[in-house]
Amino acid sequence: MSRHIALTVDRDSRLPLAMQIRDSLRGLVESGTLKPGTRIPSSRQLAVDIGVSRSVVVEAYDQLTAEGYLTGRRGSGTSVAARTGAETAASALAPLTEEPAPGARWDLRTGASDTTDFPRTEWLRCATAVITGAGRQELGYAPLAGVPHTRHVLTGYLGRVRGVRGRPEDLMITSGFAQGLALVCRVLLDRGHTALAVEDPGHPGEREFIGQSGLRPVGIPVDEDGLDVERLEASGARAVLITPANQFPTGVRLGRERRERLVAWAREVDGYVLEDDFDTGFLDPAGRLPALQSLAPDRVVYAGSASKTLAPALRLGWLAGPPDLMASVEHVRAGWDIGCSGLEQLTFARFIDTGAFDRHQRRLRTEFRRRRRTVRAHLDTQLPGAWLPGGAGGLQAYVRLPSRIDEQALVRAARRRSVLVRGGRDYSVSAAGSPPALVIGYAKANCAALSRSLTEVGAAYREQWEGAG
Ligand SMILES: Cc1ncc(COP(=O)(O)O)c(C=O)c1O
Repeated sequence: MSRHIALTVDRDSRLPLAMQIRDSLRGLVESGTLKPGTRIPSSRQLAVDIGVSRSVVVEAYDQLTAEGYLTGRRGSGTSVAARTGAETAASALAPLTEEPAPGARWDLRTGASDTTDFPRTEWLRCATAVITGAGRQELGYAPLAGVPHTRHVLTGYLGRVRGVRGRPEDLMITSGFAQGLALVCRVLLDRGHTALAVEDPGHPGEREFIGQSGLRPVGIPVDEDGLDVERLEASGARAVLITPANQFPTGVRLGRERRERLVAWAREVDGYVLEDDFDTGFLDPAGRLPALQSLAPDRVVYAGSASKTLAPALRLGWLAGPPDLMASVEHVRAGWDIGCSGLEQLTFARFIDTGAFDRHQRRLRTEFRRRRRTVRAHLDTQLPGAWLPGGAGGLQAYVRLPSRIDEQALVRAARRRSVLVRGGRDYSVSAAGSPPALVIGYAKANCAALSRSLTEVGAAYREQWEGAG
């Protein structure tokens, strides 16, 4: 007997239906919800269940079979294959990003990237030019720290757009921010650090990742002006990981005075600031301050990533820091791998050089501004008493709730209405003390989906509000 599978498709999404079905099924297999050997419905049955044409389901099944998730023999149906990605280990940074969402209609959890608008044509054009022109050198091993041309182009770009200071030699291309963080943690340990301060609230996966590296993550409170530097000074830590441009997840910006005080602290304790600038592409340039690194290139390690602006699958990130620290980073990395894909790096350089990166980010900003306006409009009309402490950018809205609202009860009520959303507690280091909040990620939800899902959240909210009033 095949199992019934609760799958839904979003007809407003730009993602083709076959891809939606493929992604949902893959998620169910990876999460272990569908175990190896489980018979899944026939393509005809699933097509009827979810109201799509059979060819769409066949396309999804074919692809999952080719990827090794499903196996099928004519006459005996299709089942989940015995060996799947479910058996592989996951990074601590992953849980917030790609956790599958079985059964829920809308996913407003943070961590995702919006890859529906990945600039396929322009990226392909750049990749084709790179591959066509690639000689022996380009097809060989790239230097460990990255292809010199890409480091040169990226240094120029970061200087122009974020005010980052430094030489291409002091910039390393990493396999995403995750590798940059792992490298910096290792170097800090080698230099006698035992702790790395982090923002509270902040990214729980990062805290776990830092803990696994051997450093103790120490939570430092964040208020409307960003990280509380006074509390950092009292913490005993000599290094801090921070998202100053757009604090994750609150969206507040580190104020000017605190920036000055933070770099003064780093000098005072002979320590370092790791600046995670992963989502500034989504911030309005007019409202952005230059990177913190520009105030103290001797103390701040600047980190960026293409995961949000392009796609996590590229695994492209970068670190720019003081030369002596970067030399240690390179030394550590020499024992880990032999660098990232040179062809991908060259494609990225070309993508920047041709202006395609700027154009793409402008498009993303316009779209995300719209999504944020949709969130604001729903807050105003449907969540009375809730407010946004943060600014006007990024991929999520941190919504503070009045104290009479029970955050976790609201999260559960939203789930019953088919909306997956996280409460502030999931991001907080000191769970007991965190004020009630909802963190609405809108990377995976366009305006129409946001509108419908927030209407559901609003209904759940009003039930509590009226019940408590
Ligand atoms: C706080 C934060 N920084 C950085 C990243 C980017 O990480 P990576 O470049 O390893 O994909 C993410 C991705 O979700 C993130 O949430």
